[in-house]
Amino acid sequence: MSKQIVAIDGPAGSGKSSVSKQLAREFNFGYLDTGAAYRALAWLVLQGLDTRELENGAFESNFDYQISTDADNFWVRVGNQDVTEAIRSTEVSEAVSAVAQIPTVRSFMKRKTHEIAETCTKPGIVIEGRDITTVVYPEAQSRILLTASEEVRLARRSKEVSDAENVHAQVVKRDAHDSKVVNFTEAAPGVALIDSSDLDFSQTVQVMSEQVKHDLKAAHDV
Ligand code: DC
Repeated sequence: MSKQIVAIDGPAGSGKSSVSKQLAREFNFGYLDTGAAYRALAWLVLQGLDTRELENGAFESNFDYQISTDADNFWVRVGNQDVTEAIRSTEVSEAVSAVAQIPTVRSFMKRKTHEIAETCTKPGIVIEGRDITTVVYPEAQSRILLTASEEVRLARRSKEVSDAENVHAQVVKRDAHDSKVVNFTEAAPGVALIDSSDLDFSQTVQVMSEQVKHDLKAAHDV
């Protein structure tokens, strides 16, 4: 049987990372955070990588990117450097949207996501991002767009980032920028829309888990 793909998209602060990790544990699937690769590339730019290399594709041979697909042992590496923490910095969060707008980068990321998903040894994988349901894996057995109101997303991120201006910059401005390239505010045909505004974490996991079970069964019954 081919690998089961659970594709989850959503804006910053929708809770998709923690929910996706929990789903991966419940289904004994791998977990893949696709935003981490964009962040790692933005980190490399901040280290001095020439942005012309992003435009012309030359970065591909110098971008030795590795990521864990284990929800309980998460790490990200570029070459022999562990960048798990570094890619969450404010500097990277502010630089990442510009990197994610570049078409050469996006097509590389699509290929890379497929490569990582295929090498994951679990029977399935939960992949989260912005364009997984629409561009990267439109053929996924389960496709979900997880949203939440702006107010709720800001409140959730405030717990992670200390000052209000940064929260606004990191959530609203970044989403506005990112959504010019990929539409993750409306569910594409065949994509289930789940709004977590009025749900706590365990309720969100429960609703998502039911949806995934339903989708995997439907895909199996075809
Ligand atoms: O999910 P995140 O905040 O770590 O994502 C970092 C950035 O990468 C975000 O600004 C949007 C971009 N991104 C994307 O364009 N497509 C994806 N599949 C995942 C992330």
